[in-house]
Amino acid sequence: MTDKPFSEYADRNAAPILEVLRDEFSAASSVIEIGSGTGQHAARFAAALTHLQWQTSDLPENHDGINAWVRSLGLDNLLPPLTLDVRIASLPGESYDAAFSANTAHIMSIGSVEKMFSLLGCTLKEGGVFCLYGPFRQAGEFNTQSNAGFHESLRSRDPAMGIRDLESLDQFGVANGMVRLRLYAMPANNHIAVWKKASA
Ligand SMILES: C[S@@+](CC[C@H](N)C(=O)[O-])C[C@H]1O[C@@H](n2cnc3c(N)ncnc32)[C@H](O)[C@@H]1O
Repeated sequence: MTDKPFSEYADRNAAPILEVLRDEFSAASSVIEIGSGTGQHAARFAAALTHLQWQTSDLPENHDGINAWVRSLGLDNLLPPLTLDVRIASLPGESYDAAFSANTAHIMSIGSVEKMFSLLGCTLKEGGVFCLYGPFRQAGEFNTQSNAGFHESLRSRDPAMGIRDLESLDQFGVANGMVRLRLYAMPANNHIAVWKKASA
């Protein structure tokens, strides 16, 4: 049996993210998470937000770890991972009230980020919200020197990675029927951006 993977970083940011999700997902009953990673966020948020069915997903290499969290908690509202690569995935239309993703936009290529918005624009119900956590650039500026350095380190690892311009993400949102409602400043120079799927 796989041990539960543990990330200090995901453990630290879970509490402040949860406070935002409590508000943003208060009226939702189902959420799709893109790039569940270790599965820690899903475990923590599903345990706290019991009104939500939390659907995990990720590339297959992360499934054993996510399943280890799902099995060990045994929660009715925490679902085993879907195999979901945003580059090729499709999801049923109008199926979820909410979507969540953390620290994925700077890891995926910009084309994949665009696909993530297109996927969510299709699978969210009208009025559904998408909360995306991570570092962003705004008006062409990094909010701190450390995020500028992080961007450079990502680029040297893989030129397709990098901190994204919030304005580009807003454009992907609009192209897929979603408008940004809010931007929360979070600890450690991160943000949560919230888009809402508008009525058709
Ligand atoms: C930095 S990790 C973040 C994991 C977790 N959300 C967290 O905050 O700890 C990036 C995640 O994005 C996922 N990912 C990368 N490319 C992806 C793709 N094309 N489709 C779906 N997920 C992808 C990775 O597998 C990984 O779980």
